Amino acid sequence: MTPTIHIKETYTNPNSFHIYFSYAGKKKYTNLPTELQKLVHLKAEKDEFVGKDKDLIHIERISENGIEHFVVVGLGEESSHTLKVIRSQMSKAVQLARKVKALEIVIHINDHAKNVQSIVEGVCMGDYSFDTFKGKESRKKHPHIQNVYLVTRETEEIKKAVARGINSASALLLARDMVNTPASHLHPEILVEHARKIGNKSQGAVTITVLDEMECNKLGMGAFLGVAQGSERKPAFIILHYKGSGTHKFAFVGKSITFDSGGLSLKPSEGMMDMKIDMAGGAAVLGVFDYLATQKPHVSAFSDVYGVLPACENMPSGKAIKPGDIVTALNGKTIEVLNTDAEGRLALADALVYAETELKADYIVDIATLTGACMVALGQDLAGLFSNDDQFEKKYRSYAHYTGDDYWRMPLHEEYLSQMKSSIADLKNVGGRYGGAIKAAVFLKEFVKKAKWMHIDIAGPAHTDKGGASGWGVLSIIYFLEQIIKV
Ligand code: BES
Ligand code: ZN
Ligand code: ZN
Repeated sequence: MTPTIHIKETYTNPNSFHIYFSYAGKKKYTNLPTELQKLVHLKAEKDEFVGKDKDLIHIERISENGIEHFVVVGLGEESSHTLKVIRSQMSKAVQLARKVKALEIVIHINDHAKNVQSIVEGVCMGDYSFDTFKGKESRKKHPHIQNVYLVTRETEEIKKAVARGINSASALLLARDMVNTPASHLHPEILVEHARKIGNKSQGAVTITVLDEMECNKLGMGAFLGVAQGSERKPAFIILHYKGSGTHKFAFVGKSITFDSGGLSLKPSEGMMDMKIDMAGGAAVLGVFDYLATQKPHVSAFSDVYGVLPACENMPSGKAIKPGDIVTALNGKTIEVLNTDAEGRLALADALVYAETELKADYIVDIATLTGACMVALGQDLAGLFSNDDQFEKKYRSYAHYTGDDYWRMPLHEEYLSQMKSSIADLKNVGGRYGGAIKAAVFLKEFVKKAKWMHIDIAGPAHTDKGGASGWGVLSIIYFLEQIIKV
């Protein structure tokens, strides 16, 4: 649930939580009540507030009517500020508002009308917490913001930006909720339910197709089904579709392992603890389609936008795939499965082939919590991005930058493919100790023929130890598809 957003030319309520913006070096806080200007100045001097990103001033004013809060948010240098800074600073200010149990906030938009969508996104992100399994008491103790007043002129443009912001934020939060939900409550069948819900609310704009185990088998998805075979829960291969008006076909493939125990190559307890998040790629895809379903944007670059989720659990059992087994992928390539914990690339292999040969996608992005090695290399802030097309990557880069979906481009080093060759099959699913993220990417490349392709390894940024799921990928892909900002 996102707070209700109102647009008002003026708004005064003695118990509000007010938010103002300031750029680096500016010591003028226009719109701030005059009697507070001096106080903010003093506080700014004392706290050495310079309006840089990460800076924030908080002042409380106590009167007989209650407590009024004033927050001045620093946005960094005016010439180089990005929507990413606005979003993250808003989010921080709103987290503070929740801490003091404010139920409404007033945002003095001033000359930030062009940033309203990012402001709304930041508000919703800051207000988010995963409470599904929290009791009444705890919810009462940490109430959500209910009303947000944007103090600005109510133009058509602003109304549209607010609506878009709510839709993109809802999409992002849906993805976060799914990733945070434990595997007991989120398994392939539930992902199917989420997809169908998105289809239903789109009133025909998003269509859903689900292939069951038998249909996948008939097609020849031996790699995906090999991963799924150890679980009591049935796999589901979910396809979502949205129509655009361009000439190219875009497929967004998300790793959707609803729990990764490692299979018979069982993970140690420490490594298994977080493995409900192994469907974060699929959640990002569903988030994007949730946006397409509600916003129904005009997508001018693509004639068709597809989402592909090979959803299953990776479990050990008497039926499970064994180290050393050989599976045959949808493109006919055989894979010796030497480590059942390197399952993501198996599920993705079939999904990539399906996207290119069945859906005829000529632009493919896969997003996956694929390797611990990528997290070791880049930490928890950055995704690793691999691409066979510089132009495609360049086009996406600005959108990722502006939305805060940060990544670092990694090399698709062809030479490592030799280490992924099996002596008894075409490929093997693991290849030695080093460069694990690159080897996984080079393995995936074997399942893409001509399509312009990006593989994004989000094992690091998919979730943080403190904040839970991040929703990495949802905003950048939405912005990319709709080209929300001009780059
Ligand atoms: N789902 C994991 C990768 C992962 C690790 C995601 C940590 C998020 C956080 C993946 O399926 C996996 O287990 N990969 C193995 C591959 C190895 C066996 C070649 C890994 O990274 O250890
Ligand atoms: Zn694994
Ligand atoms: Zn996995």
